[in-house]
Amino acid sequence: MTFRARHLLGIEHLAPEEIRTVLDLAEKYVELNQRTVKQADSLKGMTQINMFFEASTRTQASFELAGKRLGADVMNMAMQHSSVKKGETLIDTALTLNAMHPDLLVVRHPASGAVDLLAQKVNCAVLNAGDGRHEHPTQALLDALTIRRAKGRIQRLTVAICGDIAHSRVARSNLILLGKMENRIRLIGPPTLMPSGVRDLGCEVYEDMREGLKDCDVVMMLRLQKERMDGGFIPSEREYYHRYGLDAEKLAYAKEDAIVMHPGPMNRGVEIDGELADDINRSVIQDQVEMGVAVRMACMDLLARNLRAERGRQAAGVMV
Ligand code: NCD
Repeated sequence: MTFRARHLLGIEHLAPEEIRTVLDLAEKYVELNQRTVKQADSLKGMTQINMFFEASTRTQASFELAGKRLGADVMNMAMQHSSVKKGETLIDTALTLNAMHPDLLVVRHPASGAVDLLAQKVNCAVLNAGDGRHEHPTQALLDALTIRRAKGRIQRLTVAICGDIAHSRVARSNLILLGKMENRIRLIGPPTLMPSGVRDLGCEVYEDMREGLKDCDVVMMLRLQKERMDGGFIPSEREYYHRYGLDAEKLAYAKEDAIVMHPGPMNRGVEIDGELADDINRSVIQDQVEMGVAVRMACMDLLARNLRAERGRQAAGVMV
């Protein structure tokens, strides 16, 4: 088993064999999560603190559940009531929490790079639960596990990532992961929602949805990240749905067995047709949520092993 990382800050830092290690271990946790008694002791005695400076439903709930199923003491900081409101900086908050000796810190923050910065200031393992438009590594890993289970592999697939790519950390982490695993990636969306320098990313770029979806194995839809937009990026939601909303008619251009994904939260009737999102023959959106818990268990388990090993080495060093 190869997994060297001390923190999980981004897919950028992971080697393909480390990604495979996470997915393989997550498979074991998928199985555990389907039992009536869902208890393991990989994090027994450890303390996990979740700090979410941005709204979250799936990610926060699944990190909490993942920690509890692995036996950790889990604390959710209510950031809207914390001293951050009184002007305390992210780093001061982190240092305060660090003094309470957590072992795992799960952080979501609206500023790209904030989680990396924080990781340099604390002694525990830090997991990035999404920082600005930068990375959302556990989302890309859970997407990879969902794809691997549906398609039987995570290589040599044609994957379309559609919609608001410019503002999406989900798109960015997926792009990096799918690229590392040697897939063909297509980015589909209006030019206003494409990141700058998109032509240098090594993907195919399409403005036309039907053209871009042709022969795809996987269709990944994204939410319009309105909270990260200042000004008009799209003419209207109605017009956007007409051109870029995924419905059965557009999906028919992809392969017959293509799967539909969405990280949630979904805007039904804006980026995806509600009926298609619920169609269990095409949509794996609920599987993504299920894989989310297992993948987060695997990530925290692997980081905890490395943390224990590091502390063991430090203790041995002190004794000699
Ligand atoms: C995503 C996020 O927060 O980046 N959601 C999630 O983690 N499931 C995507 C989004 O907010 O659109």
